[in-house]
Amino acid sequence: MTEEHDGAKLATVVIFGASGDLTQRKLIPALFNLYCKDRLPAEFNIVGFAHTGFSDEAFREHLQEGMQQFAAENYEAAAWASFARRLWYVPGSFDKPDDYAALQAKLATLEDGAADRLYYLATAPRFFPVIARQLGAAGMARSDQATRQLIVEKPFGSDLASARELTQALHEVFDEGQIYRIDHFLGKETAQNILFLRFANTLFELGWNRDHIANVQITVAEQVDVGHRAGYYDQAGILRDMFQNHLLQLLALAAMEPPISFAADAIRDEKVKLLASIRPIAPEDVALHTVRGQYEGYRDAPGVAADSQTATYAAVRLFIDNWRWQGVPFYLRSGKALAQKATEILVEFRCPPHLMFPLAPGQMIESNILSLCIQPDEGVHFKFQAKVPDTVAQMRPVNMEFHYDDTFGQTVIPDAYERLLFDAIAGDKTLFTRSDGIENAWRFIDPILEGWSSPAAPPLATYARDSWGPGAAEELLRQDGHSWLLTCGQHD
Ligand code: BG6
Repeated sequence: MTEEHDGAKLATVVIFGASGDLTQRKLIPALFNLYCKDRLPAEFNIVGFAHTGFSDEAFREHLQEGMQQFAAENYEAAAWASFARRLWYVPGSFDKPDDYAALQAKLATLEDGAADRLYYLATAPRFFPVIARQLGAAGMARSDQATRQLIVEKPFGSDLASARELTQALHEVFDEGQIYRIDHFLGKETAQNILFLRFANTLFELGWNRDHIANVQITVAEQVDVGHRAGYYDQAGILRDMFQNHLLQLLALAAMEPPISFAADAIRDEKVKLLASIRPIAPEDVALHTVRGQYEGYRDAPGVAADSQTATYAAVRLFIDNWRWQGVPFYLRSGKALAQKATEILVEFRCPPHLMFPLAPGQMIESNILSLCIQPDEGVHFKFQAKVPDTVAQMRPVNMEFHYDDTFGQTVIPDAYERLLFDAIAGDKTLFTRSDGIENAWRFIDPILEGWSSPAAPPLATYARDSWGPGAAEELLRQDGHSWLLTCGQHD
């Protein structure tokens, strides 16, 4: 639990790319909340480093505006004033040694001796190796008296080869033990709750296998379109932007074997093993197991090529080759500009092997469904059959629901970045992906990408905004006698 970390006594967070969106929207609100909860080290400083020529004062004002705009519910003027005194800014270029000397000089005055440092790379990915090398050359990557940690934002590579290259470049300067690769989905409370639901309860794990489960569906649907990120998105597309990281991480948590402890590597070992057991989809088979789509009007967005073939929607059927899951289809789907924002892991159990109750003509028994609702309706739903009162043998599916809001109160769920920053400052790597985890994920995604840019690709279907994506995604499940289901957000 977050509040159980001891935390360092003196620390500095250095944010590279600090004038950008992520810092203003996510990182500073998260650090401010930690400060208000008294979860930052007793002495800390936050130093921004980027191209923009901010003074300390201008940087503070820029961040205050962000706080008021993006995290107004947590803004409190007096607390902000005291927090803002710890914010500093050094203008500089990511590739200029002199600017690192200026940064180091500033840090030396603030730290007044040894302080643990967390370098946060909130920049475009092409700068990740550049900054690591410059930190190494400036002697800022190691210290005998304190820790030096590096947080790297996504995307981590654009395929297996580039992810490996990036890891190698970082390893020239930082040990793997110093590197924290962010996947912010792992910081979401409800993603962590998957572990608790599965391994702190007896009931679910008993049936969590091929004998009892008919299929598993993971949906990460977004209502937003690509907005102002089209320049990046048109290169990345849905598989790189959402599947390689977020969806495969959710899959790993939902399907992995029980870790031997709650220690970072015990959990990460099991996730890596699970990712390694996914049956590869060969490039020539992509049309059998995947669907791709692009929402209507995507090509009109500034920064998108007029004939762009980039998919903004994908559905994938995959199998896991181990004893637990042999033969159970896992269906993953994600897309932009869809009907609803919903992230859900839905587990559909098998129907009873023999039904002693009479069914009305045409009536089918509906199977039990367990839904892990990741967002926005955080909780767990369980659907089962109940007898309709005052009938002889009629039944109807009913829902048992747990909602975080109802049980723990409205304000309890912190933003994912708050948890991740807190863990990184405390040196806890449980929620960060290791290099072998990233590589296994790319190993699965790369052949699909290859197939998608070959003649074997499934057609790129155009889908209407506010829909559920291309019809072919329904067909993919229908072939197996299943259909996409969503139960979260649909309260009884
Ligand atoms: C990011 C993707 O990693 O996750 C975005 O790059 C996506 O395209 C976002 O919108 C979704 O995150 P969340 O937390 O809003 O569900």
